[in-house]
Amino acid sequence: MLDIRDLLVNYGTIRAVRGIGFNLAKGELVSLLGANGAGKSTTLKCIAGALKASGGSITLDGTNITSASPEQVVRAGLATVPETRDVFPDLTVSENLMLGAYIHRRDRAGNRDNLERVHNLFPRLAEREGQAAGTLSGGEQQMLVIARALMSRPSVLLLDEPSLGLAPAIVERIFEMIETLKRTGLTILLVEQNVNQTLAVADRAYIMRLGKIVASGTANEIRSTTDLSAHYLGG
Ligand SMILES: Nc1ncnc2c1ncn2[C@@H]1O[C@H](COP(=O)(O)OP(=O)(O)O)[C@@H](O)[C@H]1O
Ligand SMILES: [Mg+2]
Repeated sequence: MLDIRDLLVNYGTIRAVRGIGFNLAKGELVSLLGANGAGKSTTLKCIAGALKASGGSITLDGTNITSASPEQVVRAGLATVPETRDVFPDLTVSENLMLGAYIHRRDRAGNRDNLERVHNLFPRLAEREGQAAGTLSGGEQQMLVIARALMSRPSVLLLDEPSLGLAPAIVERIFEMIETLKRTGLTILLVEQNVNQTLAVADRAYIMRLGKIVASGTANEIRSTTDLSAHYLGG
């Protein structure tokens, strides 16, 4: 479904991603793990079209999206939830959600159906549809940005540290929601620092360190054969 090969991403002279490759089959939940600064967000931004690749290729369901713009990537069926968790604070929950449906703006009936589906997945957002997004709690804002990404009707969803900075009970809910999304058949790439909870829901995982992939395998293999603490100490 998503195939990354020999990907290189630079910030000027800083080589943040140094020739990585990984893939996701349809319906898989794959995790990208690694310490701060490993290059995880850079990888996601590049797949999303927000950063230019200096080398390598990104293929989505057979389509080469390596040089695609962010809007072209969304149209190709890939939505990204960045770590910045940006909502439009003065717009209502509903208005924020409808912005996610921008590429389908002429398909009002389809958007209505999809909004209903998203409200069923996130009943809390349905209750707050008229409320300004800036007045939601951190966990609710995270739900909103994920729900907004779903309004583009993606086949692949990239999530950058959705549990970051949230209270344990909310983190639990976010992981439950990710499992629910997986059951709908969505293909998911999950970047996380919450290693144990992530390996509990992921099919497979890749570990990044200093711009490279240093380990990969099924969640069970990673848990039993990889000294995870080594990848989280000292960056
Ligand atoms: N806008 C930027 N300009 C220059 N260097 C950056 C920028 N963003 C990230 N980097 C550097 O790229 C490397 C990878 O960062 P990042 O992808 O954010 O890592 P992660 O998400 O794994 O924590 C780090 O060394 C970071 O300092
Ligand atoms: Mg990051």
